[in-house]
Amino acid sequence: MSQTAETLSPHALMAILMGRRSIRKYHPDPVPEEMVEQMLEAGRWAPSASNRQPWRFVVVRDEQIRKAVAQHAGIAVIRFTFVEEAPLLIMLLGDRSNPVYRTFLHEDVGLAGAQIMLQAHALGLGTCWLGGIDKDAIAKILRVPETMEIVGMLAVGFPAESPKPRPRKPLEDLFYRDVFGNRDAVGVSAADAGWWKRLMSKLRIKFVGRG
Ligand SMILES: Cc1cc2nc3c(=O)[nH]c(=O)nc-3n(C[C@H](O)[C@H](O)[C@H](O)COP(=O)(O)O)c2cc1C
Repeated sequence: MSQTAETLSPHALMAILMGRRSIRKYHPDPVPEEMVEQMLEAGRWAPSASNRQPWRFVVVRDEQIRKAVAQHAGIAVIRFTFVEEAPLLIMLLGDRSNPVYRTFLHEDVGLAGAQIMLQAHALGLGTCWLGGIDKDAIAKILRVPETMEIVGMLAVGFPAESPKPRPRKPLEDLFYRDVFGNRDAVGVSAADAGWWKRLMSKLRIKFVGRG
């Protein structure tokens, strides 16, 4: 049995996954440095394409910088004022200096961001991913170089609200068996995928890389 399976039951993990909420009200108390480190450590262990780990994080605690950044959180005429109250912001950046790195940049940084949010929740912190931000304006404030892309921003703090779960689409509406569109309990054969695809899959070289 792996170490993870010994220390964390599937039930306990599911409780963390299902218990996380986007938090939009925070206590002003600062987030302890050990907690910041644990969140970033969770992000560091995210999987990434070819293990490139293109993520970089900017942890913004300084009140002046935080408030300046928060001014640029919003969509159209709506400003997300709650961001100003969060004692901590974590900017999720991706290294786009290498064209190869760019291919899966959003997937990689997104996964790191998700792990950070989940670890934050396990630590009793609340987070909210902010996609509605003026990335150019924030990049200037934070002196983000051209080679880096701001993928997202997390507001972080001790929650001052406990929102109900947001609705989720029913599982049965979200998946099919074997081929897209098949909802029958018994799957259908995908053998009719076409001669070209069948030939290509036969010709494929086995990939055993560890990278
Ligand atoms: C990529 C992404 C962008 C988001 N952008 C915003 C945003 O700009 N403002 C906001 O208040 N919430 C934002 N959210 C939070 C979503 O609204 C929230 O995750 C969703 O409603 C589900 O609620 P839950 O996180 O509590 O389960 C974003 C979430 C994701 C994953």
